[in-house]
Amino acid sequence: MSDRYAVIGNPVAHSKSPFIHAAFARQTDQDVVYERILAPLDGFAQAVETFRAEGGLGLNVTLPFKLQAFQIAHERGVRARDAQAVNTLKFEGATIYGDNTDGIGLVRDIQVNLNFRIEGRDVLVMGAGGAAQGALSVLLDAKPARLVIANRTVEKAERLAERWRGTRGLSPALLSASGYAELSGREFDVVVNSTSASLNDTVPELPDGVFARGCLAYDMMYGKGVTAFLERALSQGAALVADGIGMLVEQAAESFFIWRGVRPQTGPVITALKAQ
Ligand code: ATR
Repeated sequence: MSDRYAVIGNPVAHSKSPFIHAAFARQTDQDVVYERILAPLDGFAQAVETFRAEGGLGLNVTLPFKLQAFQIAHERGVRARDAQAVNTLKFEGATIYGDNTDGIGLVRDIQVNLNFRIEGRDVLVMGAGGAAQGALSVLLDAKPARLVIANRTVEKAERLAERWRGTRGLSPALLSASGYAELSGREFDVVVNSTSASLNDTVPELPDGVFARGCLAYDMMYGKGVTAFLERALSQGAALVADGIGMLVEQAAESFFIWRGVRPQTGPVITALKAQ
C-alpha cells in the first residue's frame, strides 16, 4: 500500500497540490498517493480524524481551515507559531504535528528561483490578513533594510507590525505600518501583494513612484495570469513581476520534505505548471 497524503480545503477542486506532489513522488521515487479532500465548512476536525484513522500520514491544509489546523495540532513548529496558522499536518503515531511552509515558499521563490536578494532592501507588504501573517517572520529573517506593511484597514497592519517589533526587538524605522495613500514619496525594491483583491482583479490604490528602479513585484495569487496588481507594477516601472506559482510549488516542496525527509527539485514542476 502506498503512503497516503492529501490536500484538505473548501473549495478544493481547483487545487494544484495533487499534480505537484505526484510530480515530486515520481521524481524522488517515493511510494505515495496524494488525494483531495473537500471538508464541510463545519466538519474540518472530523474529516482530519477520518483520514488519519484510515492510515493517512499527512495533510496540506488550505482555505479556510489553516487556523483550525493550528488549533488541532498537538505540536507546532516555530513557523506555525509565528504565522499562527498551519498549512502542513504530519501524523506521527498519536501526535499531530503542525507546520507552516507558506512563508518559506515565498522567500525561496524570491531569493532562489527569481534570484532576487531581500537582504538590505526595502520591502513593502500589501495586506495584513492571513497571507501576510504567514509570510512576515520569514521575510524578516531575510533581513530587509526596512519593511512596511500597508493595509486598507491600517489598524490591522499596526497590530501586525507591533507584534513583530516586540518579538524581534525591531525599531519603527525598520518595521512599520501604513495606509496606501501614505506611501506617497517612498519607494521599495520588493513589493509583495498579499491582499485578496486580485481575486476580483482589483488592486489597492498605490501612489506613483512606489516601485523603485529594478523593483520586483510579487503577487501571491496564482492562476489569474497577469493580475491587475502586476499590470500596475509593470506600467509603473517594476523590472520583474511574478505570480504565486513558484511560491505554491516551494511551499509544497517544504511540506514534502517534512513528510518524507527528501527535498524534490522544484524547477521542473514550476515549468510544467506554467505551461498548463
Ligand atoms: P488572507 O487570509 O487571504 O490574507 P484575509 O485575512 O481576509 O485573507 O485578508 C485579506 C487582505 O486583503 C486584507 O489585508 C484586506 O484588507 P482589509 O484588512 O482592509 O480588509 C485585503 N483586501 C481585500 N480586498 C481588498 C481591496 N479591494 N482593496 C484593498 N485591500 C483588500
